[in-house]
Amino acid sequence: MSQSHSAASSNTSPSKISIIRPDDWHLHVRDGEVLKSVVPFTARQCGRAIIMPNLTPPVTTTEQAKIYQKAILAAAGEYSAFQPLMTLYLTDCTPPEEIKTAINSGIISAVKLYPAGATTNSEAGVTDINKCYPTLEMMQKLGMPLLVHGEVTHSDIDIFDREKMFIDQRLISIVNDFPELKVVFEHITTADAADFVIESSPYVAATITAHHLLMNRNDMLVGGIKPHHYCLPVLKRETHREALVKAAISGNNKFFMGTDSAPHAQHKKETTCGCAGMFTAFAAIELYAEAFDNANALDKLEQFSSLNGPLFYGLEANSDKITLQREKWTVPDSYQFGDDVVIPLRAGHTINWKLLC
Ligand code: NCD
Ligand code: ZN
Repeated sequence: MSQSHSAASSNTSPSKISIIRPDDWHLHVRDGEVLKSVVPFTARQCGRAIIMPNLTPPVTTTEQAKIYQKAILAAAGEYSAFQPLMTLYLTDCTPPEEIKTAINSGIISAVKLYPAGATTNSEAGVTDINKCYPTLEMMQKLGMPLLVHGEVTHSDIDIFDREKMFIDQRLISIVNDFPELKVVFEHITTADAADFVIESSPYVAATITAHHLLMNRNDMLVGGIKPHHYCLPVLKRETHREALVKAAISGNNKFFMGTDSAPHAQHKKETTCGCAGMFTAFAAIELYAEAFDNANALDKLEQFSSLNGPLFYGLEANSDKITLQREKWTVPDSYQFGDDVVIPLRAGHTINWKLLC
């Protein structure tokens, strides 16, 4: 990574950094008209993005994923080098044969496990992981990664404990029963999850969002409830945020960037039963740069954003670079989202880093 220091700067923090172009290993872009509103934000920054399959209806087959991928490519517009890496939505009855079809197609990079009821559009998700064992067996055999939304869903489990419970009640068995299945523990939010990943085999890795590195649950609940800071897994207490920062900047190649940018129309968030998800794709790498800068670890950003992910997925890193400048800019109050608008993270507030075109 190359850095330059502004002559006026009295400290040693760089005013500009160039890093290998990042990839987003966990992204929601939705479908239909709104694709044109959101895909270019990611395509401008990232070489590739793992596209989440939680549409209605979910993307459960390779055939559906092919159609979805075409629509995303069309929406990328001028950013024609952008590669959407597709995923399949695992259900109780995904046949092992579908994994073969997915591998042979060359367009499916992973299969996503949503426990039924865990999050947005997860109704068709897995009700009993044992039902998926033949399919997981096939995934292990063919080298297809399993991406996990790691939260239990029982109504009697406190929402702040759902990730830890998932590790104890589900993930430990999955990892033990399929020791050579590649597993990405998605958008981890707790020290427990970071520790689990660190202690597991090299087949287990994790994505971390920028918002979980930058915020804790006070940012959602103190001084009034903030619907645009509500996502799943929900923000946790400060000690967990600190553990995530430590993992992200550690240089451990098991941790990589996955924004979980999850846009929803403003009226779906600002209502009596608002849905989960934060829209961060418009400034993904800038938000991560700010988090790493806050931890005096800008020199570790490139590894996290651009090297560890491709290494885990068995891909080359991107061949070009991007440049970020230390420059405060104010985030717009909203962005167009098809016929609606989406409220971005930090709307009306500033971000300290700016991606140069
Ligand atoms: C995501 C969405 O809106 O699709 N929401 C979220 O809060 N992260 C689903 C998910 O990744 O849990
Ligand atoms: Zn997600």
